[in-house]
Amino acid sequence: MTNLHKRALLLKTAALTAVAAAALVGCGKKDEAATAPAVAPSAVAAAPAGPLKMAFLYVSPIGDGGWTYQHELGRRAIQDQFGDKIETSFVESVPESADAERVMRDMAGQGNGLIFATSFGYQEFVQKVAADTPDVKFEHATGYKTAANVATYDTKTFEGAYLAGIVAGGMTKTKTVGVVASVPIPEVVRNINSFVLGAQSVDPSIVAKVVWVNEWFSPPKESEAATSLINGGVDVLYQNTNSPAVLKTAEERGVRAFGKDGDMSAFAPKAHLGSAVIDWTPYYTKVTQDTLDGKWQTGSFWWGVKEGAIDLVKIADDVPQDIKDRVAKARAGLKDGTFHVWTGPVSDNTGKELLTAGQVGDLPFLTGINFFVKGVEGKVPGGQ
Ligand code: GUN
Repeated sequence: MTNLHKRALLLKTAALTAVAAAALVGCGKKDEAATAPAVAPSAVAAAPAGPLKMAFLYVSPIGDGGWTYQHELGRRAIQDQFGDKIETSFVESVPESADAERVMRDMAGQGNGLIFATSFGYQEFVQKVAADTPDVKFEHATGYKTAANVATYDTKTFEGAYLAGIVAGGMTKTKTVGVVASVPIPEVVRNINSFVLGAQSVDPSIVAKVVWVNEWFSPPKESEAATSLINGGVDVLYQNTNSPAVLKTAEERGVRAFGKDGDMSAFAPKAHLGSAVIDWTPYYTKVTQDTLDGKWQTGSFWWGVKEGAIDLVKIADDVPQDIKDRVAKARAGLKDGTFHVWTGPVSDNTGKELLTAGQVGDLPFLTGINFFVKGVEGKVPGGQ
C-alpha cells in the first residue's frame, strides 16, 4: 500500500470517526481527570485567572507572502479582535521534523492552552506531543489524524485553484499550463488537478506539466522549476509552494502566473493574473471563541468559498470579460452549493473514468486523489 493510499484510508476512517470522537470528548476528559498522570495545568484550565495563551507553529517565515503570511494575518486578526482575553505568539521557519516536536513541547510548557500547527508534515509530532499533554488543545492544519485534544482544519484550496484555472484557460496561447508542486500528498495533487480542470472548462484541449520541488518553501528551487516549465512551452503557471518565486520568475520571463494563498500581485504586476487567497480569520475566530466559551471540540473542519475562506482576487485587467464572467459564475455556484469542482465526467490521464457524468466526488474521493486528470503529463510520485 502506498503512503497516498494509506492516507486516503485513514482519511476515510477519520471522516467517519470525527463525529463519534467529538461526542466522546466530554467523557474522555472525565476519565483523564481520574487516571491521567499529573501534568502542568494548562492555560485552558486556568482561563479565568488570565488570558488564554495561544501559540502558532509556522513552517516558513512570516514574510513568505503566502501560506505562512496568511496564517500570521489570522493570528493578528484574532489578537486585535479578542484583545486582552488572549495572548498569542508564534515560532516561524520550523521544519517538519523533530524540531517541531521540541518547539510544541516548549509551547505547551509555557502555558499555551491552544497550539496551532500550520503544516501537514507536523502531523506525527502533533500526535506525540498531544498524547503527552492532554490538557492542551491542538489544531493541526491540513492533517487527517484527530484525537480527543487534536482537531484538524483546512481550506478548500482546490476551489481557488479551479477559479485560477479558468483564467489560465482563457489566457494560455501555447495551450500548455504548468504547476510547480511541493510535496506529493492528495491535497496538493487535488489542487494541481483542479487548476487543470478549470483551464479545460474553457478549452478541453489544454494540457499541463508538473515539476515537484519536494518542499513547501524553497524560492531557488521554486524558481528553477518554473524556469524548466517555461522552457518546456508553458506560458501560464500555478504553484502549490509558499513563496512568490514562481510568479517573479514568470515576470522575468514574460509569461503569466498566479499568486497563491496570499495576495501576491505586488511581486509581479505584469505577470500576475490573480491570487487564490486563503482567509484563516473566520476559522481562527470561531476556534478562539469556542475555547473561551469552554466549547472547544475535536473534529475536522474544511472551509471553502462558501464559508468565505477562499477566493480568487485581483484578476488582471487584460483577462477577457467572458472569462471573468465564467469565474463569477463558478464562484457563485460554489457559494450557493449548486456547483462542485469535482463533477463527472472526470478521467485520469490513462483514460480510466473515475467520475461518471454528473457524479460529484464525495469526501473519501476528494481526500484520496492520487492520480493526474486527463491532459496532465506524467505520474504522481507514489500514486497511480
Ligand atoms: N504550505 C506549508 N504547509 C502547507 C500545507 O500543509 N498545505 C498547503 N497547501 N500549503 C502548505
